Amino acid sequence: MNEQKCTAPILLRLAQEKDLPDICAIFNEVIASGNTIYQTHLYTLAEIKNWFSSKCERGYPVIVAERENQVLGFGSYDAFRARESYKTTAELAVHLYKQYRGQGVGTKIILDLLTRAQAQGIHVMVSCIDSANTGSIRLHERLGFQHVGRMPEVARKNDQWLDLVIMQRTTRSK
Ligand SMILES: CC(C)(COP(=O)(O)OP(=O)(O)OC[C@H]1O[C@@H](n2cnc3c(N)ncnc32)[C@H](O)[C@@H]1OP(=O)(O)O)[C@@H](O)C(=O)NCCC(=O)NCCS
Repeated sequence: MNEQKCTAPILLRLAQEKDLPDICAIFNEVIASGNTIYQTHLYTLAEIKNWFSSKCERGYPVIVAERENQVLGFGSYDAFRARESYKTTAELAVHLYKQYRGQGVGTKIILDLLTRAQAQGIHVMVSCIDSANTGSIRLHERLGFQHVGRMPEVARKNDQWLDLVIMQRTTRSK
């Protein structure tokens, strides 16, 4: 039974309203478990509904990875900065439930987002990652993202100064 579950295909699709409780739970699991997301307050479902509506209105995709109807994680991108000349650059985010990490799901989500972004006319994808998040940095390196900056002590959480690592790559396939 377990073996069958592990080999079942992973499906990537656009998120729907019914996925928002999972997305909220994943965000909150990551926020509560360390310094990966520079935020301390946990999201309410109402806040996630507003976040999702805003994404939909502005044409930025939210995608979920699921296996046998179980959401494993989600990914999205958004404007990097507001001024119009930045419209060809976006910033991505990807988060999985803890138990589904290390199975290639994050890789699939990022590759899917890069394809969607390119089709939308986005040329550069940026990722802003806490310097202690070596797993995510390694994943981005493997996908061809380059280190383009480091901002020391730009955030504070859990009584620690946090350094932000900036990585980027073009959206065209490599
Ligand atoms: C970061 C995250 C999205 C990666 O997704 P994932 O599905 O676990 O990663 P993958 O299985 O696709 O890993 C691909 C490669 O990335 C690297 N990697 C991923 N997680 C790693 C970890 N914890 N430690 C070291 N390397 C890691 C490895 O090189 C791995 O390749 P390998 O398994 O062949 O060695 C996921 O672990 C996660 O949700 N973490 C918590 C939230 C988070 O950090 N989000 C990103 C914020 S920038």
